[in-house]
Amino acid sequence: GAPVEVDISKLESGQMMTVEWRGKPVWIINRTKEMLDTLPKLADQVADPKSEKNQQPAYAQNETRSVKPELLVVVGICTHLGCSPSSKFKAGAEEGMGADWLGGFLCPCHGSTFDFAGRVFKAKPAPTNLEVPPHVYLADTRILIG
Ligand code: FES
Repeated sequence: GAPVEVDISKLESGQMMTVEWRGKPVWIINRTKEMLDTLPKLADQVADPKSEKNQQPAYAQNETRSVKPELLVVVGICTHLGCSPSSKFKAGAEEGMGADWLGGFLCPCHGSTFDFAGRVFKAKPAPTNLEVPPHVYLADTRILIG
């Protein structure tokens, strides 16, 4: 499939957008500082905190799983059986999650949960973190995916 160029100039902090790449949804999330601050707190709750299972290119193998700290680019397909997780960005009861929920994604099919870096929580059916597709910044507001 052809690479897809995405204009993210209108993607405000705290928002996500979805684009299609090779027939798959790719999410781009402009994470707030509050979202990013949750990541270190979850290191012992996620299954692969350092992304050692290679679900991302080398340039995104870091704590934020991204090239730029605030911008997450992930394939929006659950790594269990391929359902579409939904965003659960707000904390706790406000999103219908447990009181300790700090925000992220929930797969409705079998209950896998993912944090704001797409890292899967422990003891969930999904075996790995969400996949980060190959991508490069052509400019501050333009990403080429693929
Ligand atoms: Fe997502 Fe099974 S497909 S938890």
